[in-house]
Amino acid sequence: MSLPEIAISQSHQNAAALVDSACPESVSEVLDVARCDLARNTISQWSGYTPTTLHSLTGLAGEIGVGALYYKDESTRFGLGSFKALGGAYAVQHVLRQTLDADMPDTEVSLEDINTQHFADRVKNITVVTATDGNHGRSVAWGAQRFGCECMIYMHENVSQGRQEAVEAFGAKVVRVPGNYDDSVRQADQDAKANGWHIVSDTSYPGYMEIPRDVMAGYTLMTTEAMDQLPEDVIPTHVFIQGGCGGLAGAVGADLWHRYGDRMPHLTVVEPVPAACLYESARAGTPQLVNIVDESLMAGLSCGEVSLLGWQILHPGARHFMTISDAPVAPLMQMLAAGVSGDSPVVAGESAIAGLAGLIGAMQNESLAQQMNLDAKSRVLVFGTEGATDPEVFEALVGTSADKIAA
Ligand SMILES: Cc1ncc(COP(=O)(O)O)c(C=O)c1O
Repeated sequence: MSLPEIAISQSHQNAAALVDSACPESVSEVLDVARCDLARNTISQWSGYTPTTLHSLTGLAGEIGVGALYYKDESTRFGLGSFKALGGAYAVQHVLRQTLDADMPDTEVSLEDINTQHFADRVKNITVVTATDGNHGRSVAWGAQRFGCECMIYMHENVSQGRQEAVEAFGAKVVRVPGNYDDSVRQADQDAKANGWHIVSDTSYPGYMEIPRDVMAGYTLMTTEAMDQLPEDVIPTHVFIQGGCGGLAGAVGADLWHRYGDRMPHLTVVEPVPAACLYESARAGTPQLVNIVDESLMAGLSCGEVSLLGWQILHPGARHFMTISDAPVAPLMQMLAAGVSGDSPVVAGESAIAGLAGLIGAMQNESLAQQMNLDAKSRVLVFGTEGATDPEVFEALVGTSADKIAA
């Protein structure tokens, strides 16, 4: 199977990015190492935890023309099928701990108490709520079920039925909201205030920073695993990461910077054209709102409002921001499912391929590849952030079921 032609719709070289610089204090203040360590230690003690696979796709690297290509495959994460399992559920654990701590001034409640359901009678009266286009809600619902609290999930009208059912399978109640993702965020926020529910959002905004900070700390487990799984002498030269609100990209950026310091890889954020809030923010030098008119097939990336925490990391940390259309989604999902030149087949969902698409598109554009120092010596890390999170959509796009490919 030959590589699809991928046009990078827009590309912006970020003049504010720090190059060859140790991780600046401003980034460590957003996401500090101790917070990330706590998240990684806590999540790795949850039952069922195993690191996901880091594939070395040598066949595909050869086709693309880079020296090495590593693909962190989140399709098997905790049986939920995406990296989001690491963020929302972990933040639920924190919210429950803090809520009980405030309710019982004489008792010190630990994260472990929540994990072992030590205060089950109290926890069952707490409700967590979030808006979602699928994966974050699944994580929050799963966390709520795991720790024993109630859960409300708000979904906009374009989220697929399959994604609704996946959330309901964890016992959460789903509320449908007319409009787009950002409308569902506003509705969830209003209803939470009216009902005394606890919002567990993956995006941050003025006045709401601490919970998304824990969500992002949870995500760093994925990057840390990947860095630990790379061959000992390998530091990636380039990392391509897909952007929704930027929480994920920010977490990946901070974790890379903590580990590699002034050898921080060239970080590129890739978004769908109709939801390019990070790209627009980078061009403007300050957070921008994008009104989403068309929904991208990459549902997890269809977000028009930048996470402030993500932005504070990406503004100095990402060297390029680019956008792609939906055209490469199905061809790349099919190509990964088939495996290129002896590479193992990979189950990659619609939002999983954006980083890889950015790499291929950049390599097919000579001047962009040159500007990015991408060549046959580059060692590239990408994140396959989801598997078949909606099996019906997956099968329609790939032509084979995810189960068959995984088998
Ligand atoms: C599979 C997948 N990849 C990437 C992202 C982007 O994450 P963020 O919104 O934190 O930028 C999402 C968000 O939901 C997602 O579901």
